[in-house]
Amino acid sequence: MRVSATLSLLALLEAVSCQSIIGFGPAFSLGPTNSWIREATTTLVLPKVPSPQLDRLALWPGMGTSGGDLIQALAVSFSDPNANCGATAGQWYGTQLGGTQVPASAGDEVTMHYKYNDSTGKYDQTAALNGKVVSTLSTSSGNAQGWGTAVECQDDACVGTVVAHKYTDTTIILNAIDTTFKDTLVLTEATSSGFSTTDGGKTWTVDTINIQAHTYDVTS
Ligand SMILES: *[C@@H]1O[C@H](CO)[C@@H](O)[C@H](O)[C@H]1NC(C)=O
Repeated sequence: MRVSATLSLLALLEAVSCQSIIGFGPAFSLGPTNSWIREATTTLVLPKVPSPQLDRLALWPGMGTSGGDLIQALAVSFSDPNANCGATAGQWYGTQLGGTQVPASAGDEVTMHYKYNDSTGKYDQTAALNGKVVSTLSTSSGNAQGWGTAVECQDDACVGTVVAHKYTDTTIILNAIDTTFKDTLVLTEATSSGFSTTDGGKTWTVDTINIQAHTYDVTS
């Protein structure tokens, strides 16, 4: 079997239109806030792709919005790397919805940055691979109310194991102080190094989010 992986928003949305099985694993989840999220940054350190590499497994941090949308940049593992932007066996594929797709490998660092743009009313999103911006996108989505990480399987990948991985240097900036934001944190098969505010409730940081290994057994 061929193996690969990708970083992309486009891939998942396309996938959603034809997927029949879907499952969610571990998560670090925040929200809703009494305010709204102006800006969020995190860096995903890519783990090894699942073995065997079945369609489709995605790792992503995202934000749910008041418009009912999801803002997300993804690392996706597909069964056929050659069909996806030149990724080779054992690679991830990175992508944003409507953005560029780039291959990435275990150990690579993918920084996802989402920022509300006051002049357009959209969220400007960038994905950087090892510090180099590889994809940018702006979407109109209302205001973000929560932020969280996800391990999502679709179809064939919903029987495999996703190894442990982590997110580093996560910062979330609210529009206004919300001291209760801390209480909205839910950890599912995950731990974090501490979630705290640096300015009384507007800027929130967490150094390391550790996502535990997860084995799916979703058959319908
Ligand atoms: C807001 O979006 C516009 C149009 O894309 C862009 O030119 C501008 O630089 C953005 N503002 C900021 C602060 O990034």
